[in-house]
Amino acid sequence: MKYRIQQNHHREFEIYEKNKRAPRTYFIPYSSKEALRGVPDARQRYESDLVRVLSGAWEFRYYPNGADIPRELDSETLEFDQITVPSTWQRTGYEAPVYLNTRYEFDDFPPGLPDIISAGVYRKRFALEGAADKACIVSFLGAASCVDLYCNGYHIGYSEGAHNTAEFDLSAVVREGENELLVVVHKWCTGTFLECQDMFRENGIFRDVLLYTPPKTYLNDFWLRPLKNADGTYRLLANIEVQGEPNGWSLDFVVEGLEGAAHSVGAKERLSFILENLRPVEWNAEIPTLYNAYITLSKAGELTQAAKIPIGFKCVEINGDKFAFNGQLIKLKGVNHHDTNPVTGYFMSYEDYRRDLELMKSLNVNAIRTSHYPPDPHLLMLADALGFYVVDEADIETHGAEANHKNYHLISHDKLWIPRYLDRIKRMLFRDRNHACVTMWSLGNEAGGHHCQDACYAFLHAVQPEIPVHYEGVRHTPVRAYDVYSEMYTDILSCEAIGKKEAEERFLQKPYFLCEYAHAMGFGPGNLEEYVLAFYKYDNLMGGCVWEWADHAVRHDQEAGGRNQGSGDGRFLQYTYGGDHGERVHDGNFCVDGLVYPDRRPHTGALQMKNVYRPVRAAKLGDTTFSFTNHNRFAEERCPLQWTLLRNGQGFITGSCELCVPAMGSQEITLVLPPMDENAEYHITFEYGGKAFEQLPLRELPVEEAISPVPNSEFSDVLDTVQLNFLRAWLDNDNWKNWTFGPYKPDELIAMPDGWYADDEKQFSLSLSQEDLDGGAVKFTAKLTPGEDMLEDLQIPRFGLTFRLPAEWSRVKYFGLGDIENLPDVRAQAKLGIFETTVKGMHEPYIKPQENGTRCEVRWLQLTNEEGSGVRITNPSKLLSFCAHTYPQESLTAAKHQEDLRDEGAVFLSVDGFLRGSGSSSCGPDTLDEYKIDLSDGLAFSFVMAPVG
Ligand code: GAL
Repeated sequence: MKYRIQQNHHREFEIYEKNKRAPRTYFIPYSSKEALRGVPDARQRYESDLVRVLSGAWEFRYYPNGADIPRELDSETLEFDQITVPSTWQRTGYEAPVYLNTRYEFDDFPPGLPDIISAGVYRKRFALEGAADKACIVSFLGAASCVDLYCNGYHIGYSEGAHNTAEFDLSAVVREGENELLVVVHKWCTGTFLECQDMFRENGIFRDVLLYTPPKTYLNDFWLRPLKNADGTYRLLANIEVQGEPNGWSLDFVVEGLEGAAHSVGAKERLSFILENLRPVEWNAEIPTLYNAYITLSKAGELTQAAKIPIGFKCVEINGDKFAFNGQLIKLKGVNHHDTNPVTGYFMSYEDYRRDLELMKSLNVNAIRTSHYPPDPHLLMLADALGFYVVDEADIETHGAEANHKNYHLISHDKLWIPRYLDRIKRMLFRDRNHACVTMWSLGNEAGGHHCQDACYAFLHAVQPEIPVHYEGVRHTPVRAYDVYSEMYTDILSCEAIGKKEAEERFLQKPYFLCEYAHAMGFGPGNLEEYVLAFYKYDNLMGGCVWEWADHAVRHDQEAGGRNQGSGDGRFLQYTYGGDHGERVHDGNFCVDGLVYPDRRPHTGALQMKNVYRPVRAAKLGDTTFSFTNHNRFAEERCPLQWTLLRNGQGFITGSCELCVPAMGSQEITLVLPPMDENAEYHITFEYGGKAFEQLPLRELPVEEAISPVPNSEFSDVLDTVQLNFLRAWLDNDNWKNWTFGPYKPDELIAMPDGWYADDEKQFSLSLSQEDLDGGAVKFTAKLTPGEDMLEDLQIPRFGLTFRLPAEWSRVKYFGLGDIENLPDVRAQAKLGIFETTVKGMHEPYIKPQENGTRCEVRWLQLTNEEGSGVRITNPSKLLSFCAHTYPQESLTAAKHQEDLRDEGAVFLSVDGFLRGSGSSSCGPDTLDEYKIDLSDGLAFSFVMAPVG
């Protein structure tokens, strides 16, 4: 087949679409209601007899320079590779992955583009039967950066907007039997200026391609719009569009299970009707009640098409500075979700989404911001069904306007761009407006403002005023805010000030939302608990979304071989991030910043979030009486409550009862507890049926333990290895951009005989004394004494001692916080108790290695060999923290990937008297003062170390 190839659509500013169909709702029609009813949501897209999914094997030809695509292209003689669609060039080996945060990949001034832009030509053949009686629409759910579409020798149209659906009507060019689609995708187009999101930058047809082949008269679009009446009933406005020749066809509408929600009418091109007086059970994220609506189209009594639309009835209202959902001031306990799969990159399957959303649900997340573009409709279907408040975000970010061209507003304040912005907003709105989960629209991310956003806001409000509009970027312009005031990474004290109405006026007029907070990069985020307590405390704080859900990284498979494997420097790396692929410019590991690993194993931070976001919180009212408050807005919490009383860290009595707390209510429970010993510590753990747990101290005491050393031959060697330490292998949240540690990072201090110096001024001196006790035990006392000219804001991450132990002393037992790592400001995931583990078991494999495995609030610990011979640390002057690894801190500090760490033949033990929290400062604020180490009065701690046998 011969084609005349369009060379320049992607470069022409006037053209961002050609011959593209008007946006409409996403749905999959079937020719039978029964078939549709029987098919599970996961398969709905794939089993329709009216829609064919063209995903799978395609032919593909990659051009390093798109200008080399023959102007007269003969698809019969062109040589193609075979690839799988959906996929991206960077995950199939045609180009190397590139990770960038705020920058465009090129410096050309918008809308200019580089001279050389790579491109791919895709070919797919498909057979049609009964073509003369069918309409034929091809639908691209996602392609980056643009699509120039050809079919059977004709140019059909052009589209930009990578994460928007692009549909083209092929009805006039398809024929009986075999047909051919040819798709040219350019790496960059003028639309790329609106897609400068912080992510791997990928290209290709990365979502499913659908071919709709309904009868010539077909259901094209609908909007089922529930609106709440003052008396609490609902009305449902239905707008339905039929294409073709609707005369003589009839349309039936029914909402199953809802009285009065049925309507039958002769079909017309545009139909509108209102169903009044409906009394549905409302939808909310806690109890996501959906009704299945069916629209069917029939002729002469014969049904030809059916659509199933799960609808939820909800009412979002903003009253001054309060955000109400069905009348309740909900709190968004959310996460930001990017589409990222370690193998397929941008492409996420239904199962990928399901796994993500089910995992979120199990972590007590109730809100998702689809950062920073509309997801595949599958995510929204799942969010409707599982229950999430969704902030659906448009595919607009122009961060590079600032990063490359030093003017944040360069594009967004230029009215010439308005049509392109509106196109992206309309395509999001029309595709997604039937979803119950959509709680706010978002005009995009980090694009400055404001002329283009003003136009988008006006459009959304004109069409669907009942859904509020969010956009953080407008804060940087005189407009300040649309329907909610939104910020990212605001510190807790400022949030508190907004809550207390002690902030500037502009923060106080609208509900306040943190579209991003608690940067989860590496270990952390810290202080999540304090944020959520502030959300609960103040009515004008709507909550926020943790940045971000999953680590972005490329997974390599050593077994698979092939072009895309390894690190680029000859070594095999299982996971790679920015800079590992020979990128000229990149942003390193800033993409590895999720709550879950690329394979979705939860990080410590995710497990912390699970407990912080828990619905029920306990408080001690009296000696044995506790209250349980349910922070749900709609759902009662009915779950088994299992309690365990711990004496000196050991659970010794447990019980259970049924918790049944109404939404926003409390239940008091009095437990039968034994009297407490004067000289023991007591804690109580509450487990909420697997949904979360928490622990309350009942009595905490200083530790005193009789020391009974049992000498062993290696102990004195261990004593010889002791060193003072005030550094750690930087957490991402410690040191990104050096924001946390003020003028000096402590690893820049210079050691002199009398202390540690910065700029010739003594910051502090350290001392360690050793007192020999009976039986070979030793008492260590460590001190930090501030220098006279110590910088006021000098910060250190820890103060402790390190030891090198024999490799065989790898069995670890301790009374402290957590069988899982923790830090002072990241502790909700951990319970206090007595735990046993191994040194290797303490390692937590962050994609970019960093300090890990720490246990805080330690009363005693011991490391022994299999026979029980080793060392015991006890009687600390204050609670300790510790970690133990098979590599030293220096190796961990230097490591860039897990593969850089190796077992160095010993146990490297850190025992700390002081340890700093994590905070969020890889992008957000530092930890709160109470989790920093205050050096002003000096530091001191001691403990006893004894050999055990
Ligand atoms: C925000 C941005 C996100 C991400 C984050 C840092 O400013 O909106 O896309 O870059 O910072 O990880």
